[in-house]
This record gives sequence, C-alpha cells and structure tokens, in this order.
Amino acid sequence: MNRNDFPQLQDGVIYLDNAATTFKPKCVIERINDFYVHENANIYRGLYDLSVKATAQYDEARQTVAKFINAEPEEIIFTSGTTDGINKFTQMINAKDKIVASDITGHHSNLLPWRKNAKEFKYIPSRKDGSSMGPDNSFVVNDFIDIAAMSMYSNVFGNTKSFDDAYGRPEPRVIFFADAAQAIAHKKIDVKTFRDNPLALAFSGHKIFGPTGIGVLYISKKIHDQLSPAQFGGEMVEDVREQDFDLAPIPQRFEAGTPNIAGAIGLAEAIRYFSAHQNEFFTHEKKLAAYAHRILSEIEGLKIISVTYDPIISFTIDSVHPHDVAQYLAVHNICVRAGYHCAQVGLDYLGIGPVTRISLAPYNTFEEIDKTVEVLKNIRKDMYV
Ligand code: ALA
Repeated sequence: MNRNDFPQLQDGVIYLDNAATTFKPKCVIERINDFYVHENANIYRGLYDLSVKATAQYDEARQTVAKFINAEPEEIIFTSGTTDGINKFTQMINAKDKIVASDITGHHSNLLPWRKNAKEFKYIPSRKDGSSMGPDNSFVVNDFIDIAAMSMYSNVFGNTKSFDDAYGRPEPRVIFFADAAQAIAHKKIDVKTFRDNPLALAFSGHKIFGPTGIGVLYISKKIHDQLSPAQFGGEMVEDVREQDFDLAPIPQRFEAGTPNIAGAIGLAEAIRYFSAHQNEFFTHEKKLAAYAHRILSEIEGLKIISVTYDPIISFTIDSVHPHDVAQYLAVHNICVRAGYHCAQVGLDYLGIGPVTRISLAPYNTFEEIDKTVEVLKNIRKDMYV
C-alpha cells in the first residue's frame, strides 16, 4: 500500500474511523476534479459532444460496478448511499404488503426503513458475540417471511454474517436483502454465489475510497417484474401524455432526475483502484487486525466485544465512558468512533451499551496501532479511575 496515494494521510492524523468513511485516493479526487473542470454536462439529454461523453462515462461507471460484484449493468441502480438504497427498495418492492425480518444487531438503516414500511417486521435474535441465532433458535418462522434482510458484516462486531446462519433455507420465493455497507470494503462480493433466492443488495461508495453521496442498489433481474419506481420525474419515462405515461427501461426507470454523475464516475475510479489492490489490502488488513486485537486485549480493563480478528474492533474500558475514550484519543490526534454506532437496538438487547470502535483500512500501519495502544494504556490513570 502506497500511503502517498492518500493526500489526507500526509496531515499526520491517525485515522481509525474507516467504517464511518474512508479517506480518498488521489486518483479519485483527480477524476472528479477533471470531470467538473473539463467534462461536465448532463446525461441522456444532450446531442452535443460533452453530453454524449458524460453519458458514456456514466454508463461505463455502471458497467464497472456491475463487474465488481459480478452483476449485469441493468441490475445496478445508482443511489445516494446504502440508506437511500434500502429506503428506495422498501418502496420499489412495496414492503407494505410484505413480512420482513432483519438481524437485531444490524445498522439502523437496515431496521428502521423496514420497521416503518413493512406490513410486519420481525427481529432475528443475536448471540452475545453478535452472531445471528439460526432458524432453530429463532422465533421467526421462515415460511411466513417475504423478505429476509441481513447486515453482511457488522459495523460494530466486525463479524461476517450469512443468510444460511440466520435463515436456514427459506422458500425460494423469499427475497434476500443484503446490507453490504461494511462488507464491500472487507469481503469479495459476488452476487452469483448467493443461493437461489432472489437478492437485492446495497452499499455506499464512500466506504471503499469513493466520494460521499453515491451508492449502489443491486436488484436481481429475477424480481424486476415485482418492482415499481419509488420516485417519478425526468429520465425515468419514455413517453408522457396528459393522463398517462410509459416507463423507461430498467435501470433508468429507477433513477428519476439528474443523477450524481460525478459521484458515479468517481466511484468507478475508486472501484478500479480498490480492485487492483484488493488481495494485498485484505492480507494487510487481516495481519493488522490480528495484531491490534492482541495488543489491545493486553490493556488492563479493556474488553473487546468483537470475537473475530477482523478490522472492526469494538471495545469497552472499565469505568471510562466510550465518549471519554474517543475524546482522549482525539487529543492525541487519533480518530475513532464511540457510542451506539447506529446499532442501538442490538447493543442494548445484548446488554452491552455504547462502545468505542477502531475500524481499520489498508493504509493503517502497525506503528499507528502501537501509538494508539500506548495512549490507551494511560487513560485510566489520566482519568483518575
Ligand atoms: N455506518 C457508519 C458507521 O458505522 C457511519 O460508522
């Protein structure tokens, strides 16, 4: 990993809040800058060269995303992020007619849109380590579920979760919905390796070195005939008459209005950068995570709640509130996140409460972990605990 690829790292900060958002590589920043300096135009509308080229770049971005997760371009809908994708999907699939389940330790964005919009909502319960209780231990009866939602990789526990563990083998008509917000940065995702159940999946660009404000909603072609648009307006129609209209083909049908063109182009650049280094990134991250787990757990009073050696490491420190831990680290120029991490239901259900979270990226170093541990070793003394 060439840390010089990331201009913001040169500012000397120790950035360990990568599950919240990642820093951006120069190639992504320059790609977006070039678009606005030389290539800016609206898409699918203009007959002039700039617009034709912008349209081609946007279409190419969709193809890049599709290839990245082994999908077809028409299965990729650009959104503003994971939350937007999940909210849109609840409307597109008409969740008000559906019984939906989701894992209790999941992010609020994979709970609240379903709770708000589904006909009925059920939680998949969790064990203490954040793993989902399987269908044998769960009160959720799969036969009655229409949509089985799941956070693929917990933003608090850092564990990988599978539909098999949580749901067993539901009927083939049951739609799987995967929140891949964190998984996208730490796992290879291939939508064709999921079981036969139709799949929809959402992620954000900014967690894999892309810009904020752009995300992806993948929806399997198998259920395209069950979808209707969540939003109406320009771009998503082909022919509009006084009393009726004809919808544009998918995916344009689901992208009403001018999309985030520069965001999609920037995301494609981020995916190219990420894909070129993916194996190296995962190997480094794994070593770093194992090291961090080991030396963090040697600190007196510190308890790690993440049981797997993954790059998301949440912990508590006896008698020190997580917000105080984060503020203490901030004084030493170390950025972490503290609190409920938008997963309050699960953390309260398990009786854990708020935690401090270190989340690693491939550009983090062993020295940064050492420095963080050195600082944390003094926290209880400095806070007079
Ligand atoms: N969901 C992001 C996080 O876990 C913002 O920090």
